[in-house]
Amino acid sequence: MKSYHVTTLNEFIIERQADFAYAKGELSRLLYSIGVAAKIVNKKVNKAGLVDILGASGEINVQGEEQKKLDIFADKQFIGALKASGECCGLATEENDEIVTFDTDMSKDGKYIVCMDPLDGSSNIDVNVSIGTIFSIYRRITPRGTKPEKEDFLQIGSKQIAAGYVIYGSSTMMVYTTGRGVNGFTLDPSIGEFCLSNPEIKTPKYGTIYSINEGNYVDFPEGVKKFIKYCQEIEPETNRPYTSRYIGSLVADFHRNLLKGGIYLYPSTAKDPIGKLRLLYECNPIAFLAEQAGGLASDGVNRILKMKPESLHQRIPFYTGSVDLVQKVEEFIAKN
Ligand code: AHG
Ligand code: MN
Ligand code: MN
Repeated sequence: MKSYHVTTLNEFIIERQADFAYAKGELSRLLYSIGVAAKIVNKKVNKAGLVDILGASGEINVQGEEQKKLDIFADKQFIGALKASGECCGLATEENDEIVTFDTDMSKDGKYIVCMDPLDGSSNIDVNVSIGTIFSIYRRITPRGTKPEKEDFLQIGSKQIAAGYVIYGSSTMMVYTTGRGVNGFTLDPSIGEFCLSNPEIKTPKYGTIYSINEGNYVDFPEGVKKFIKYCQEIEPETNRPYTSRYIGSLVADFHRNLLKGGIYLYPSTAKDPIGKLRLLYECNPIAFLAEQAGGLASDGVNRILKMKPESLHQRIPFYTGSVDLVQKVEEFIAKN
């Protein structure tokens, strides 16, 4: 008999809890807290234009970027939710120069640290285009019961316990991995629950979409320029020319390519000579998801998940998506 029961995010997390016997439900509580904060942010995003949440806050963050009101709102929501969960002893986020640590005994006893881009795609907030939240969870290295240290946050990406994103798009979704595949949940606003809609996501090996801010073309490395020209060449056997799609929100661009097959590229440019995207809270979590879905993530030469971070807000060039396309851009970079 066909089952009409929808699996909610919380049911799914509990079902999978057995995979993490060591976590004794702690990781589940952490993921649950992120889901709750995401719903609160979603509510605000949906009201953008009606409530005073659009536009600049007047503050500049450590990256020298103007913070939007929604950047700050989302940052506060996620920090508050993770503090309340009691499972997280500290966070690194795009909006805070240094790590944020929690003083309560319960939080200091938390096993996990979280790296987060609370609001990704800021430039799209004011124009009603998809934005997101990205998160990455590690087990702390320092002993429980103490305040976490920077070294807890500077672990290589392959040590991630879980990672995911929320996309505030035409519908709102949460997509995450705990290292056993990637699953997607769509928020049903009528019941206020994320419901399993995309189980076991696998990204196509051969994609036909390339996503890059081509306005920076003149500054791209030679290999990337040649790769773009390769994408534009006509060759029916390889389905070329490929299609260009670029939203300017990493979460939204990655999400589309994950489902349809493609590559996202953010190379070094004159303005951002070491790339623009941040290793800890943009590249590592997306790389974990990409690999778990059968794709790849690279800085053009090395696997992202093998890189040892040097600082909290470190930037790197980023290439992620379908295996065939990431390997192809790596080949062009190696040859040029
Ligand atoms: P954020 O809004 O968190 O600062 O991230 C913006 C990032 C990423 O989401 C996006 O893919 C990229 O910046 C877009 O950059 P360009 O506007 O330079 O294309
Ligand atoms: Mn971002
Ligand atoms: Mn951001």
